[in-house]
Amino acid sequence: MYGLIHRAIRDCVKTEYGDSAWGRIAETASLDDSMFVSMQAYPDELTLSMLGTACEELDADLSQLLHQFGRYWVLHTARKGYGPLFSFSGDNMRSFLSNLNAMHEHLAVSFANLRQPSFKVEDMSAEVIHLHYESPRDGLTDFVVGLISGLSEHFDEPVECTVIEEKAKGAPHDVFRLQFSS
Ligand code: HEM
Repeated sequence: MYGLIHRAIRDCVKTEYGDSAWGRIAETASLDDSMFVSMQAYPDELTLSMLGTACEELDADLSQLLHQFGRYWVLHTARKGYGPLFSFSGDNMRSFLSNLNAMHEHLAVSFANLRQPSFKVEDMSAEVIHLHYESPRDGLTDFVVGLISGLSEHFDEPVECTVIEEKAKGAPHDVFRLQFSS
């Protein structure tokens, strides 16, 4: 994944667990500054080993960490680092989620090696949508749940998110049911 993802993981851990916790992770995983260049694409194995070491050092499970990181990505990295792009993509959750593909396609102009996810919003009723998430990658379901939680806070739209279909359990792709409060 791109270095800006690594930077955000580092910032998230420092904010949630403190600088010394990150110091231990960096030492155990032999991380150095060359792995945090924002515009450089790195093998996913590096990202995963960073997260794996973080889980061991923080005594956290991966799903918890991915969820925290998803929230952090929206509420800190995206909102502060990509403010204009973020605000052009919609002023409520439904329109924002419907614009996610266009937003990542726009990013692909600058990030030539972007392997972007694909989302589809299926309207079920006035309060319920199904969000379909397809990716060449596996294992990021809890990251998406965390992203949705961050978006819910950002737009001040309380939402109950349930994973109703999972690629990890044999489904073609992940599907999230989002129930908005009426
Ligand atoms: C302005 C805000 C955002 C920026 C700058 C951004 C940028 C990126 C970048 C650079 C990657 C890494 C792809 C790679 O290294 O190949 C990525 C991945 C991803 N993004 Fe975004 N993103 C933003 C917002 C969001 C939001 C709000 C969601 C909400 C659902 C989202 C969902 C994802 C997912 C799930 C991935 C993982 C890649 C995969 O599934 O294969 N992104 N994004």
